[in-house]
Amino acid sequence: MRLSLPTIFSFAVASAALPQPHGPPDPDSPKPFSTFSNRVIWTPPKGGRAMYPRHAELRDGTLLVTANVFGLTGGPGNLPIFPIFESKDGGVTFQWISNLTDQVNGWGMVAQPALYELRKPLGGFKSGTILASGNSWSNNGTRIDLYASTDKARTWQFVSHVAAGGRPNTTNGATPVWEPFLLAYEDELIVYYSDQRDPKHGQKLAHQRSRDLKTWGPVVNDVAYDEYLARPGMTVVAYIPPLKKWILVYELPVGNSSSHGVNYPVHYRLADDPRKFDSAEHIPIVINTKNGTVAPNASPYVVWSPVGGPKGTIVVSDADRSAVYVNTAGADPDKWEIKEVGQPEAYSRALHVFEKRPEHLMVLGGDTFDGNGVGALVNSVLDVRKVLDGDWKPEPDPKPPACKAA
Ligand SMILES: *[C@@H]1O[C@H](CO)[C@@H](O)[C@H](O)[C@H]1NC(C)=O
Ligand SMILES: *[C@@H]1O[C@H](CO)[C@@H](O)[C@H](O)[C@H]1NC(C)=O
Ligand SMILES: *[C@@H]1O[C@H](CO)[C@@H](O)[C@H](O)[C@H]1NC(C)=O
Ligand SMILES: *[C@@H]1O[C@H](CO)[C@@H](O)[C@H](O)[C@H]1NC(C)=O
Ligand SMILES: *[C@@H]1O[C@H](CO)[C@@H](O)[C@H](O)[C@H]1NC(C)=O
Repeated sequence: MRLSLPTIFSFAVASAALPQPHGPPDPDSPKPFSTFSNRVIWTPPKGGRAMYPRHAELRDGTLLVTANVFGLTGGPGNLPIFPIFESKDGGVTFQWISNLTDQVNGWGMVAQPALYELRKPLGGFKSGTILASGNSWSNNGTRIDLYASTDKARTWQFVSHVAAGGRPNTTNGATPVWEPFLLAYEDELIVYYSDQRDPKHGQKLAHQRSRDLKTWGPVVNDVAYDEYLARPGMTVVAYIPPLKKWILVYELPVGNSSSHGVNYPVHYRLADDPRKFDSAEHIPIVINTKNGTVAPNASPYVVWSPVGGPKGTIVVSDADRSAVYVNTAGADPDKWEIKEVGQPEAYSRALHVFEKRPEHLMVLGGDTFDGNGVGALVNSVLDVRKVLDGDWKPEPDPKPPACKAA
């Protein structure tokens, strides 16, 4: 979660790169399961903003997509909701199939959604059950809640409160929780999240686990720094089969400090066990290009594709570039590269490698943190081999200079 900054209305995206709105049936529409660039999935109601998209690929190849949408309300009390979209053709076309609404707090599903399909029975739910989480909040608190759908995301039932904290407030010393990420592992569900409740840390990353999805074990640290001002945030975890290791990516703002020109430098940790990141080494992603040093900034995502060599390709996204960061050398810290993908920068973009077409990488985007004036939910599907072969061409920074402190 970024510290609140004065909103800079930055039209950082070149107009040529703006997604085109969906019209009536499009004769040039990409073929099912093909690659394509920068299509609109859905445009929120006027003035609305879709960001922080999340997704799950179901066993049958169906893709579910949701997002944090400012300006979309519905359900009991007309509160914020997560819209759920379904694609049966590899992300080319989508249908709006349901809304995840807050059934218990009277606060709405406000931000930071997560989706996950169970591939084994867990907690009394069958394989194929879809789990959803997110941050339900009001001025009275933040709650990371768990919901389940046993009918392919058509309807949702509340399962449990995973973690609860103080009202949403990114100031150190406040006590909210943020940004869940779901992973089933060894007959437990792991819910990772960002946690400001521990007085020893401005913010840390932690998880809780459950076998029955109702009762949650103790808070286990994943990333926590002795430096109080450090605010590791926004956990995303992926498995890297050739290394037999799990990777956790996160942003790491520390007060107002800057590292390689960015304030929310992206770091990663590797662990044999996704419950044991706390003791793992922390590694920043820094790339030496002919044009100097490049460092990803804020709201990272990570996936792995088997394409790209014996160790496959780790792909990381950030908030500030349309490009992605790739590593075909088994996460070697010195071997990151930057590659253009042409899907505009967005706050907390998500990445996906299709299970049956692992050479296809989806980049799922939306609005930037400060608002790019588009606000639509958008995606691209790219061939990983072409991404690896491609060149990244640095552009002059289009953003206005950062606000100077008064
Ligand atoms: C989702 O909620 C929106 C806003 O209330 C409503 O217009 C839409 O019909 C709902 N869609 C579904 C599939 O329930
Ligand atoms: C917040 O808590 C107060 C006091 O319990 C209550 O009156 C109010 O309705 C609550 N507001 C929300 C949005 O939950
Ligand atoms: C946010 O948290 C800080 C630190 O606890 C506190 O001083 C401030 O009053 C809080 N702001 C709001 C709006 O609650
Ligand atoms: C960051 O800088 C601002 C403006 O100078 C200051 O108000 C704030 O206290 C600083 N925050 C930290 C965590 O150092
Ligand atoms: C550095 O970037 C500029 C564009 O900002 C480009 O014109 C130039 O060719 C680049 N130099 C190298 C060595 O890549």
